[in-house]
Amino acid sequence: NIHPVLLCGGSGTRLWPLSRKSYPKQFAALTGETTLFQQSARRLSGTGFGAPLIMTNSDFRFIVTEQLAAAGIDPGAILIEPEGRNTAPAVLAAAMYLARTDPDAVMLVAPSDHVVPDAQAFRDAVAAGLPAARNGQLVTFGIKPTYAETGYGYLELAEEPRDFAARTLPLERFVEKPDPECAAEMLAAGRFLWNAGIFLFSAEAVISAFRTHAPDLIAPVEAAIKEAQVDLGFLRLAPKPWSEAADISIDYAVMERADNLSVVPFAAGWSDLGGWDAVWREADRDARGVALSGHATAIDCDETLLRSEDSTMEVVGIGLKDIITIAMPDAVLVADMSRAQDVKLAVAALKAKQ
Ligand code: GDD
Ligand code: MG
Repeated sequence: NIHPVLLCGGSGTRLWPLSRKSYPKQFAALTGETTLFQQSARRLSGTGFGAPLIMTNSDFRFIVTEQLAAAGIDPGAILIEPEGRNTAPAVLAAAMYLARTDPDAVMLVAPSDHVVPDAQAFRDAVAAGLPAARNGQLVTFGIKPTYAETGYGYLELAEEPRDFAARTLPLERFVEKPDPECAAEMLAAGRFLWNAGIFLFSAEAVISAFRTHAPDLIAPVEAAIKEAQVDLGFLRLAPKPWSEAADISIDYAVMERADNLSVVPFAAGWSDLGGWDAVWREADRDARGVALSGHATAIDCDETLLRSEDSTMEVVGIGLKDIITIAMPDAVLVADMSRAQDVKLAVAALKAKQ
């Protein structure tokens, strides 16, 4: 069985005011009835998958258990990070934890805040990558890029893929979050894919990659697991050693440096919902491109997203074009669609005012 490892410790500020530090986007129902976290857990369940290992923090532990119970999913274990140290320590901790009981464990590390509409196609892609992962490769999943996004990692192939059949290809190079010029060049070159942020590898292979490329993380993470405390069914990693682990993502710590990388191209639809424009694109829209959610009404609008998350607040748009409006009980965002990425500036501005 593959062990799913769900990362849900991040706080997506670009989806303010719905996504908050205390209630980030993975726990919100952004694209349907269920939350992104529930959809992610569901996607990685069924034949071939073991119970998911959840990597989260104290603030989210009860949201996690509630949402898993509501979705009818039993977690294998829930590990609590005493503080967010980014994805490298979280993934290493998951690998060390799994290797203790299953030395041959193969793990599928997945974010909990993405949309992958075709779960079966995704599981087929995972199956395609499994032999390489069992062979010690660090397997990534590649998305055909459509614009020069600088917030993603890029996967360089030897040549432009001729088709997007689910199979494993060798990866030449991993480039995390390039500058705009570099992103534009990679887009033009044609042989680069976006890194989906989903990884398949054996616990042994990834621990060994950490030993080689980020050796300073080994001792603190090992100690944090060894001294971990069981607390109400959660396993709480030891705060002191954990605080000594560097705050770094797995992309920078390992993927950019490793040379045993593979990629499975994935063409069946993927979005990391990196902004309200992406939410609008993934939502059900009418013929004029209007997406509504909650107590929202549009009159003669085009290409617009209107949401009210508050049952006592009606939001009505008239004659709008390319507008995002998100109403929460304590905050309302009104923004131009083209400025969706600047929503993180709102969070920064409000923080500065405090
Ligand atoms: N448990 C835990 N602890 N989870 C975390 C932590 C942490 O400290 N920090 C982030 N996460 C979770 C987030 O909630 C998210 O689900 C996932 O890990 C990835 O973190 P992000 O912060 O969203 O990464 P990113 O979007 O900037 O970049 C990654 O994803 C891109 C695709 O969406 C990279 O892998 C890129 O290369 C990739 O293109
Ligand atoms: Mg992300």
